[in-house]
Amino acid sequence: MTDILILAAGLGTRMKSRRAKVLHGLAGRPLIAHVIKSALALNPQAIITVVGHQAAEVERAVRHESARLVENGASAQPELHFAMQTEQRGTGHAVMAAHEILQTRTAPLIVTAGDVPMIQSAMLQRLVETHNTEKNDATIVTVNLENPFGYGRIIRDAEGRYIRCVEQKDGTPEELAIKEVNVSIYCFNPGALLAALDHLTTDNAQGEYYLTDVPQILMNQQRRIGIFRYENAETVRGINTRVELAELEKQLRDKKLHDLMLAGVTIIDPATTYIHDEVEIGQDTVIHPQVIIEGSSRIGAGCTIHSWSRLTDVQLDDEVMIKNSCIIEASHLHTGASAGPFARIRMNAEICENAVIGNFVEVKKSKVGKNTKAQHLSYLGDATLGENVNIGAGTVTCNYDGVRKNETHIEDNVRIGSDTMLVAPVRVGARSATGAGSVVTKDVPPDSLAVGVPAVVKKRLA
Ligand code: UD1
Ligand code: CA
Repeated sequence: MTDILILAAGLGTRMKSRRAKVLHGLAGRPLIAHVIKSALALNPQAIITVVGHQAAEVERAVRHESARLVENGASAQPELHFAMQTEQRGTGHAVMAAHEILQTRTAPLIVTAGDVPMIQSAMLQRLVETHNTEKNDATIVTVNLENPFGYGRIIRDAEGRYIRCVEQKDGTPEELAIKEVNVSIYCFNPGALLAALDHLTTDNAQGEYYLTDVPQILMNQQRRIGIFRYENAETVRGINTRVELAELEKQLRDKKLHDLMLAGVTIIDPATTYIHDEVEIGQDTVIHPQVIIEGSSRIGAGCTIHSWSRLTDVQLDDEVMIKNSCIIEASHLHTGASAGPFARIRMNAEICENAVIGNFVEVKKSKVGKNTKAQHLSYLGDATLGENVNIGAGTVTCNYDGVRKNETHIEDNVRIGSDTMLVAPVRVGARSATGAGSVVTKDVPPDSLAVGVPAVVKKRLA
């Protein structure tokens, strides 16, 4: 069992932002959400987050990501605690802010900064294992960096044992030449950590309480300190500037595209294709240039996504065709369906097998039945369409009466004439038709033709 403490109270001065650093987005989710995801993969007992800048929003981001992952089965529900650090007086001071909560904890405690979004759960797992097998009171993760500027340097003795960590602003030239650095990820026995906090001082170049002084204090108390030297420096890199943020975004993106291509997805132009890390895509799907696929989208096999389309949280079954310039959000297209060019589909719309949503058609919160076609210039909102319906060009479901959104029902095999206004709530019965330009204000029974303004039922159809 483990607990995890995340330090996320800082503003992140070098971001030059009014927004707290951990709220800046990476692959569409706040930085802190990425840390939470890796933390949750360990099934920790508790996640404790130290908040300060934009505390309420950071807390919301943590709760949101945790709820999302618990809901999709990625983790059991951990206890979520938040500690307020009103003034930011250093990383040691941030841990002090969680003093009360930490007093009640006994499991090994992973401490990490909130700005290391690529942190891997497998690494954290190994850290805890090392900590436990070596029976340490503190274990410090280090990496070697070609350019260690800005990081705390790890000073070892002749036998390679830990002596102390020296911050950039406090180091002598000899110390700053060291390439092994602290990445702000540790494992502590919480009792030992708390005891050491009482001995922290602000006697350093920045006048802050440094968490990095804790291991040395513990050593003076004859406690065991271990170093966990980690080989994959890239994944423990902290984000400090927007330049680093953009570099990381690109790295994540390249890796995702690479993995997808090796798994059988054709990506015609990786340089202009943007696919978020959690998106799933099946074999032989073809992604044309300048496509964006975001969030938790799941795309089946044999689909084609043409250029300039943006898909967010969509589900496409197999053999779905998305033509150029579609915007599709939180909607489901079944096998063989097609959309576009220039279609907008949103808010839990469901497009069933082989249905066609054509150019300049918007579908909102509507179900479109099998083989139904709306080829041109229509708005379908809060509507339920049956199978084999044809929607003429320019048809509009007038769903909003100024107060309420009202529903339209169009049953199987209906033919709606061009430029029909369906004034909801309204129902058009099976096999009926409407004349071009009609304004339908009352229900149309099955097997009937309705025409005119307002529409009246002219005759029963054979
Ligand atoms: C820290 C380490 C340094 C390490 C580097 C790795 C210290 C003293 N130094 O320096 O050895 O190489 O991380 O990135 O620990 N935070 C708070 N409250 C505060 C101060 C910071 O919550 O009062 C949080 C920040 O939001 C951030 C994390 O702690 O998530 C690290 O803070 P940051 O200011 O980036 O530390 P560095 O100066 O980079
Ligand atoms: Ca940092």
